Amino acid sequence: MKDHNRWYGSMVVRSEPLIKEYQTTGAQNSLKSNTNTKLPENLLQGLRKKPEDFPSISEHELVRHYYRLSRLNYSLDDGLYPLGSCTMKYNPVINEVIAQMDQFSNLHPALPVAQTQGALEILYETQSMISEILDLPGISLQPAAGAHGELAGVFMIHKYFESKGEKRNKILIPDSAHGTNPASAAMGGYITEKIPSNEKGLTDLEALAAQVDENTAALMITNPNTLGIFETQIVKIKEILDKKGALLYVDGANLNAVMGIVSFGKMGVDLTQLNLHKTFSTPHGGGGPGQGALACSERMRAFLPSPYVVKKSINGKNFYDYETPEHSIGPVKGWYGQFGIILRAWSYLKRNGKNIKEISERAVINANYIRKKLEKHLTLASTEPSMHEVVFNQKSLEAKGAATKNFAKALLDRGFYAPTIYFPLHVVGAIMVEPTETESKKEMDVFIHAVLDIFETLEKNPDEITQSPHNTYVREIDETLAARKPVLTWHDDHD
Ligand SMILES: Cc1ncc(COP(=O)(O)O)c(C=O)c1O
Repeated sequence: MKDHNRWYGSMVVRSEPLIKEYQTTGAQNSLKSNTNTKLPENLLQGLRKKPEDFPSISEHELVRHYYRLSRLNYSLDDGLYPLGSCTMKYNPVINEVIAQMDQFSNLHPALPVAQTQGALEILYETQSMISEILDLPGISLQPAAGAHGELAGVFMIHKYFESKGEKRNKILIPDSAHGTNPASAAMGGYITEKIPSNEKGLTDLEALAAQVDENTAALMITNPNTLGIFETQIVKIKEILDKKGALLYVDGANLNAVMGIVSFGKMGVDLTQLNLHKTFSTPHGGGGPGQGALACSERMRAFLPSPYVVKKSINGKNFYDYETPEHSIGPVKGWYGQFGIILRAWSYLKRNGKNIKEISERAVINANYIRKKLEKHLTLASTEPSMHEVVFNQKSLEAKGAATKNFAKALLDRGFYAPTIYFPLHVVGAIMVEPTETESKKEMDVFIHAVLDIFETLEKNPDEITQSPHNTYVREIDETLAARKPVLTWHDDHD
């Protein structure tokens, strides 16, 4: 078996016409030949009054058509999904089974709390498990995504200073922060100021000390940062902020690298948001549904969005109820958050709670395995130890006459999804790989082999790489036009 050469077999579907473009085949079991059959009334509802002019093909051909269409896409079921930062990891099937249970999917959020005790218990348990992992007392499950959690956090920062009678107008952002951090601060009405990274890719403490002042409301820092590096100086950073009364906001979306290992409480974090969809399963890429928990220290608790769920004791029995914090910024979303995603996170935590530390250790080991195997070929963006993802720059590719985008497209030809590229912005031609904890050594070896093959091919036949992709359904596209004028629907008049 050509174990490493997956791409020779996996990308065999090169094209598939639209169903309307099929010719009537006259094959047995034609779907159209059955249109005179009397169907039960309830099945007829929703049928077109006048059938479209579809070709008459067999059920077998129809099933193959849709199967082939599905093969034009790459998914986690095909293989490793190296997308860094966005984190696409295996989503346990049991989560989907649970989320589809009638008892959950048919539950209306407006039902009286007495009739939704089970769902409220799940919300409460999810809050408690996250609080324990972070070592922070306040949790809200309201925000609908990571960036939404950041914005809610910025509103809380504003309300906190308002309650102290202070007006502060500035939020500091290290250049290694995720792009949503300055965007959220600006949307929340703050001026943002950039703090440079030092040569190790960590926050430059001298620059921070020089820039923080009485107008600084907070520092918003991503930790582990977008280089996949843990900000080891976080306690010193907190001390610098404390001197001017500024708050520490940590973007905790990369929690999957440090769960059960670091305490956000001991780091002195005032506010943090998690991306439940990155850390506790649920597909993330391609605009999938999100859910961001927002967590905080004791002094910020009264400002959390409303409501959260509390546990009471009534006649010796547990009773779960909603509560609004005293100085809440108010709701940031309808009801209590994306219940379906919270449910999946709850299921993930219930099944893996005891191994939460091992999950992070595996995520880190996997990223470092890939780093070790590839660092001779791709140039590292930082020599500091990697956490859950490893970032390379384009230097070694450039030296061979290729660019990051050629590398990414050559990976598509070899049967893989591309890593995150050109992000983070402060790394020229960045390539960010995040294998996640759910990949085996064998699967990572297939990926590594594909990368090594790209470098071998660059020596022998550079044009093959610089003109990639060759094996995909759509070849080179006009990137500017595709970004500025995307055509998202199909029309008869298109080729
Ligand atoms: C570090 C970090 N912060 C914030 C976000 C934004 O999260 P979301 O896409 O859920 O809004 C992401 C997204 O991947 C992220 O990686």
